[in-house]
Amino acid sequence: MSFIVAIDGPAGTGKGTMANILSKKYNLLNIDTGATYRCVALEMLNKKIGLEDEEKIAEMLKTIKIEMNNQNGKQKVELNGEDVTEKIRSKEVSEIVSQVSSIKQIRLAMAGLQRKMAQGKDVIMEGRDIGTVIFPTADVKIYLDANVEVRAQRRFKQNQEKGINMSYEEVLENVKMRDKNDMEKEMGALKIAPGATVIDASEMTIKQVERKISKIIDKKIKQKSKEAKIYKIRPETTWKKIERAIVKRLIYTFYRVVFRLEKVNEENVPIDGTVIICANHLNTWDAVGLVTATKRKVNFIAKEDLFNNPLLSWIGHLFDVIPIKRGMRDMEAMKRCLGYLKNGTALGIFPEGTRRGLEKGAKVQNGAAYMALKTKAKVVPVGIQGTFKPFTKVTLNYGKPIDFSKYDSKNPEKDELDKATKEIMDNIIMLTKAGK
Ligand code: DC
Repeated sequence: MSFIVAIDGPAGTGKGTMANILSKKYNLLNIDTGATYRCVALEMLNKKIGLEDEEKIAEMLKTIKIEMNNQNGKQKVELNGEDVTEKIRSKEVSEIVSQVSSIKQIRLAMAGLQRKMAQGKDVIMEGRDIGTVIFPTADVKIYLDANVEVRAQRRFKQNQEKGINMSYEEVLENVKMRDKNDMEKEMGALKIAPGATVIDASEMTIKQVERKISKIIDKKIKQKSKEAKIYKIRPETTWKKIERAIVKRLIYTFYRVVFRLEKVNEENVPIDGTVIICANHLNTWDAVGLVTATKRKVNFIAKEDLFNNPLLSWIGHLFDVIPIKRGMRDMEAMKRCLGYLKNGTALGIFPEGTRRGLEKGAKVQNGAAYMALKTKAKVVPVGIQGTFKPFTKVTLNYGKPIDFSKYDSKNPEKDELDKATKEIMDNIIMLTKAGK
């Protein structure tokens, strides 16, 4: 799993300086995407290729070799094997690079190259369209801004240090022109990416900007390592099986004694083969009760937050509970569930999505129906009766398996899913009332 920090923003905001500092601090590969466009601009100057000469540009793009590596904390840029780190910052390159970067075929080629450079690595990437186009799902997205005079002043100083002869007015004009070009580009225009943190560095020191971005990176690293722990699947060893059998027996006995738990018609759960067990959701206790009381191993789906509790997290990993992110389409969780179902597993779901969802008027989720239709798994509805107050009775009422083979299972339509979901819920509701 790679970690990606995207820094976008107009020219001269200090993106390069920041990427350099942060790449060392967090051991990230520093990729300056502007340098890739500068290399192309230099190559076009070298080969005297006109900005409108599409054919020659296409030819050049086929053979161009751009490489970037960090050496002793400094970035080295190579164009076709030649070190062009300094040359790509020349006045001639700076003058045409914005136009060069507006050419569609060049953008497409550079986008491919930039993604390839980052593949499987932990990177910090700076440019104009990293958070919007290159890596819209980057872990950290920053939009670094500063007013135009401050930026021109910085560039002017940098140029002087490098011996580049440009007046402040020229630099200011150049920065303004590039801003306009960058923002009005047809493809890859400079924009604030959704979810990006905007930092106006006009009045900030480098240290202050570094601290602000570091805070965001630290938070994300913490969140990712927490997630990694939650999503880690405990290998199915003999010891895990023994541990699960013991824990299952202990918890079930506890439920039998304390909640006077009883099962009705458990034989409705097929002994093997793919099956989805759908129940009403009353409280935190019911999922654990259902998993430990049902003879067959049930892989339950539970909200990710459950794993914040160390005890529940341990039980969750022991019983291969599938964590799901709420409030979004969690494709990873869906993939894992479908994988389990393909292997003939019993999956447990609360279609209500939330506790006492039906009572609260929450929208019942279509996920169970979708998986049942897709995998042809039968659905066993379960009505859970009781309050889970100590020494009052709890009953698990297992219903007859529902077969959804009557629906088109390849591409279930929304109304088919709604109908199937309703059928599941109607059965569950009936079972919550049965025998009363
Ligand atoms: O950051 P820089 O000044 O080195 O960038 C050079 C040019 O390349 C600049 O005009 C903007 C353009 N660029 C771009 O269009 N997309 C990027 N991801 C990076 C730079």
